[in-house]
Amino acid sequence: MTNYDPFFSRSADVMRESAIRKMGTVLAQAADIISFAPGYPAPDTFAWQDFREIAADLLTGEDGTVLQYGATRGFRPLVESIIAVLAARGIAAGREEIVVTTGSQQGLDLVARVLVDPGDVVLLELPSYTGGITAFRNARARLVGVRQEADGLDFDDLEHVLARERAEGRRVRILYVVPNFQNPTGLLISREKRYLLREWAARRDLLLLEDDPYGDLRFDDLDPANTRSIKADDEDGRVVYLSSFSKTIAPGFRVAWIAAPAPIAAKIELAKQAADLCTGAFDQRMIHEACKRGVLERQVPLLRRHYQAKRDVMSSALVEELGDVATWPTPKGGFFLWVTLPESIDVEEMLQRALAQRIIYVAGSAFFVDGSGRNIVRLCYATPSHEHIVEGVRRFARAVREELAERRIAIPSLSRA
Ligand SMILES: Cc1ncc(COP(=O)(O)O)c(C=O)c1O
Repeated sequence: MTNYDPFFSRSADVMRESAIRKMGTVLAQAADIISFAPGYPAPDTFAWQDFREIAADLLTGEDGTVLQYGATRGFRPLVESIIAVLAARGIAAGREEIVVTTGSQQGLDLVARVLVDPGDVVLLELPSYTGGITAFRNARARLVGVRQEADGLDFDDLEHVLARERAEGRRVRILYVVPNFQNPTGLLISREKRYLLREWAARRDLLLLEDDPYGDLRFDDLDPANTRSIKADDEDGRVVYLSSFSKTIAPGFRVAWIAAPAPIAAKIELAKQAADLCTGAFDQRMIHEACKRGVLERQVPLLRRHYQAKRDVMSSALVEELGDVATWPTPKGGFFLWVTLPESIDVEEMLQRALAQRIIYVAGSAFFVDGSGRNIVRLCYATPSHEHIVEGVRRFARAVREELAERRIAIPSLSRA
């Protein structure tokens, strides 16, 4: 048998399966499992009837470009729709700054390709989105975490980490942030810290990578000024901005975009030519029509209500079942609850017990580049029904109680944050 190990590139050597994808595999194998693991939107919210009509209109055969290769930058009318979406978010972007990508996941990969050399430092929040971690790890970056507070990065730690890495002779290239309803914590970076981040990036001569798939999904009548993107006030050209139609229209279309200073967008275009030539033409046309026909506009308020109700169901169930042992911040938008359990619990070890209860989650350590988070879980409330959320939390709580009992830990009474 041939040993293939010597054939693999150094990049291939560092590739790891995503903890979230792994959970997806578990899920596919057992229909009776309730999943709080992958951050999938609820399929019953998808605008199926609109998609049927749009697809029928597009697939008459009269317009060959619908199923043809297209421009690497993206279908021109869709780029115009994206510019309008950005304008509504306060971002003034020209065509030369936009690249349509095959999901924001490709955006992360392309950014890593054009801005990071092996050994360069990428700063990330502790914790951070696993897909970002994966993209930068595959580029063989040195991943360095910065502590996070309830309102965003801890600036003392940020300065400390930057000074240390630079003193050790390393090139620090980018800070990656998810300011709106972060995956995995659900946290929101405060307005003041957004301002400070921009100012800091200019002063320290770094780029910010702002990843914003959840900004539209805000709850509780939150003032949109609180989700205003960092890019919106980026006078110094320091921000590369990513966003996606995955959470507001549907992830199966794989349509997202990058808005970057023109010279960076031009390089990203070149990297994308090698990756896939262009994002699927049919997908882009579907999304463009969905924007043009008002589907996006109609969906967003419905989604806000849908996910807010699910957040409430999950929070209440958790208070009921685990209020004495678990804590979590209440997210003002997005898909996730970030639940801290007693320190004696190792949630990776608890996974077998959870599986026996037919419930899955993502272990917090998947989101930390420093190996911490062993007693934290990310629970996604977006996909399951209300009934399944309640039943899933009940099962999750049984797994936690069994784990605690086995460890014979006296449960300290926590006051909830
Ligand atoms: C923070 C963040 N960035 C990027 C992505 C990738 O999204 P897309 O479906 O556009 O590739 C996700 C998906 O969950 C995400 O949570």
